[in-house]
Amino acid sequence: MPEQFQIFTARVLPADVQFDVEGDLTLLEAAEMGRVQLPSSCRNGTCRTCLCRLVRGEVTYTVEWPGLSAEEKAEGLVLPCVARPLTDVVIEQEAASVA
Ligand code: FES
Repeated sequence: MPEQFQIFTARVLPADVQFDVEGDLTLLEAAEMGRVQLPSSCRNGTCRTCLCRLVRGEVTYTVEWPGLSAEEKAEGLVLPCVARPLTDVVIEQEAASVA
């Protein structure tokens, strides 16, 4: 397996469902592949429809300026449509459901 190909686990609270995030997928893309529905609209980090809280873990962004303020980032808010996990993650999204 090439070194850069990693699989992380993302867990979504409070529904307590989880999905794998493979390769360079965003959390939103991986959720959809894992049959977990997260709110989304623009899918490019501007509308904030997907905004949720990162309870545990770390993410990086596919865009330079995701629509989050520095304060929101510091509070642990993330935009799953443009966030890629760097570790296993736990996010909190009340509106998540299993397809
Ligand atoms: S879907 Fe619009 S910011 Fe994530």
